[in-house]
Amino acid sequence: MFNEETRFDEPLRWAMVGGGRGSEIGYAHRSGAQRDGLFRLVAGAFDLDPARCRDFGTNLGLDPARCYADYRALFAAEARRADGIQAVSIATPNSTHYAIARAALETGLHVICEKPVTFRVSEAEELKRLACERNRVFGVMYGYSGFPMLHQAREMIRRGELGEIRIVNLQFAHGFHNTEIERYNPGAKWRMDPQVSGPSFVVGDLGTHTFFLAGMLTGLAVERLCCMRQSFVASRSPLEDNAHVMLQFRGGAVGTLWASAVNAGSTHQQKIRVVGEKASLEWWDEHPNQLRYEVQGQPVQILDRAMNYLYSEVPSIGANRIGAGHAEGFFESWANLYYRFALAMDAADRCDTATLDTLWYPGIDAGIDGVRLVECCVESADNEARWVQF
Ligand code: NAI
Repeated sequence: MFNEETRFDEPLRWAMVGGGRGSEIGYAHRSGAQRDGLFRLVAGAFDLDPARCRDFGTNLGLDPARCYADYRALFAAEARRADGIQAVSIATPNSTHYAIARAALETGLHVICEKPVTFRVSEAEELKRLACERNRVFGVMYGYSGFPMLHQAREMIRRGELGEIRIVNLQFAHGFHNTEIERYNPGAKWRMDPQVSGPSFVVGDLGTHTFFLAGMLTGLAVERLCCMRQSFVASRSPLEDNAHVMLQFRGGAVGTLWASAVNAGSTHQQKIRVVGEKASLEWWDEHPNQLRYEVQGQPVQILDRAMNYLYSEVPSIGANRIGAGHAEGFFESWANLYYRFALAMDAADRCDTATLDTLWYPGIDAGIDGVRLVECCVESADNEARWVQF
C-alpha cells in the first residue's frame, strides 16, 4: 500500500502560473502536487488580474510578496531569492504555454505544463531542446494517465495477453458544449477562439488526452491519419466542436478517435478499447477502477483495482493508495503523476540517470505528439480529410 514515507530533505519549492480563483483545473494541480509532501506551493502568478492573484495567494497561505503580477515578475524575483522556486506548473489558456514554459526553462526551473503544450510542433520541440540542454524535467499533465487500471492494461498488453494488437478505438466525447455556452462561460469562451485555443478545439482539448493513453497502453506509433471536423454550433467555426479521426499505426494496427463536445447527454465518455487477436480490453474514465477484459469465447471479466488477481508489480505505477472496493479517482491519478514528476526532478537535480531511465511519466515527447496530432488533424480536415503522414 502506498504511503507518504518518501520525503526529500525539503519539499520542492513550487509555483503556479494560472490556475487562479474560479479556474477549472487549478485546484487539481495544487491537490495533486501537495498530496504526498514532495512539493510545497510558495509562490505564484495565478491570475491575469494582479489584485485577485494576491488576494487568492494570501488566502492559500502564501506571503503576499510572492504573489506576482505576471510570470516574468515571478521568475525574475524568485531567481534572486536563496529560497526561490525550483519548479513551476503552467495552467493558463493554451496560447500562453510556450512563452511561459520557455521563460521557466531559461530561468532553470523544472516545468509541468498543461496540454496542448504549444500551438506548433516546432515550438514544442524547442522546449524539448531547452529542457535537455538545461537538464530540466518537463512533465505534461495528461492527468488521466495516473489511473492504476490503465497501467494494469498496459502491462497486460506488454505481456501479450491480448496477442497482436489489431484495433485501437478511442473516444472523448462529452456533451457540455451542445449549445453556445461560451456566451456566458469564460472558460468555454477562450476555447472557441483560435487566437487563444489554437488551431483546434476538441482535438486539442480532449483528443490529446485519449491519444496519449493509446500510445501509453499499446506502445504503437501512428504512421498516418485522416480527420473530418465540423462545428455544429456554427459560431465556433473555424474551430470544431466534433471530430472523427482514422488512425493507421506502424505495423498494421488501425484505429479511430472521436473527440466531441456536443455528445448531448454524455458527461464524459472518455473510453479506450484495445482489440488484440485473442482478447480485448476496455477502460472508461467514468468507472476508472474497473477494466473490462474480454477473451474470445469466454464470459466477460470486469477486473477491479487492487485485487490479488492483478499484477502485483506494475513498474510504471506505484502501489495503490487504498484497498480494493474503495474508489480511487481523478485526484489520486493526478497525485500519482505529481509524485513521479517530483521523483524525476529530484533525480535530475542529482544527475541520477539510472532513476530517470526507469521512471515512467508523461514528458515532453508526449507533449510533442499531442501537438503533432492537432497539426495533422487540422491539415487533414482542412484538405477534405486527406491522409496525412504523422
Ligand atoms: P480557465 O480559463 O478556467 O482558467 C485559467 C486561469 O489562468 C485563470 O485563473 C486565469 O486568470 C489565469 N490566467 C490566464 N492567463 C494568464 C496569464 N497569462 N498569467 C497568469 N494567469 C493567467 O482555464 P482552465 O480550464 O483551467 O484551463 C487551463 C489549461 O489547462 C488549458 O491549457 C487547458 O487545456 C488545460 N486543462 C487541462 C485539463 C487536464 O485534465 N489536464 C483539464 C482542464 C483544462
